[in-house]
Amino acid sequence: MHIIPVKDFNDLGRKASQFIIQLVREKPDAVLGLATGSTPKSTYKALIQDHRLNGTSYQHVRTVNLDEYVGLAKDNPNSYHYFMRDQLFNHIDIPDRNIYIPNGLASDLEEECRRYDRLITELGGVDLQILGIGRNGHIGFNEPGTSFEVMTHVVDLTLDTRKANARFFNTLEEVPKQAITMGIKNILQSRSILLLASGPSKADAMARLLNESKITNAFPASSLHQHRNVTVIADEDALSMVYLGRRA
Ligand code: PGA
Repeated sequence: MHIIPVKDFNDLGRKASQFIIQLVREKPDAVLGLATGSTPKSTYKALIQDHRLNGTSYQHVRTVNLDEYVGLAKDNPNSYHYFMRDQLFNHIDIPDRNIYIPNGLASDLEEECRRYDRLITELGGVDLQILGIGRNGHIGFNEPGTSFEVMTHVVDLTLDTRKANARFFNTLEEVPKQAITMGIKNILQSRSILLLASGPSKADAMARLLNESKITNAFPASSLHQHRNVTVIADEDALSMVYLGRRA
């Protein structure tokens, strides 16, 4: 695991965007695995800025998102479809047909999961997967206890995760109780992974990930120790409890 410490949230975005831009320039039809949440926002902002200033084109890029809430329509401002359009897709030149996000309104959710796995295979797999990390170590919506062997699946969200995401909703009750998420197995099949972390609320999770090398279902992000090409970009607050001298 390669760790890149940065100062703050904006530096995180600049640094992470450089990885993505370099990949897209080298491989214009790259498959990007994208994430939602607060953490990637500065990265997407930096990509938009670069697109405007330097003309990096996403005409041939394909994107697959990690997850989506069950039960929210695409135009619901809390859906991850909406988030991605608002934060990135509406501001770059990616064609709609190249954008893939699980459909949380599918009538057969199991079939939707299988469709999503097939789709990723047909695209040739993910070149670079962007990940955030939950305070409990979840990646995507793979909560503690999830098997590392499952592919895309429907999950029951933990109360902790729903509370963490309640800030975007009017009430906790409105936060969906389920989501579709790529499994850890999908994530580990990506050719490279970029894990992003910012802020003091991630310090515990980063300490557990980087000070220890124990791989356990109880801490889903620990699965990343099994992958050969993981880069962690994290700011000072997120790394405040990490011993960079003897990292895992
Ligand atoms: P956040 O979420 O970026 O909003 O902190 C990350 C996650 O829960 O995976």
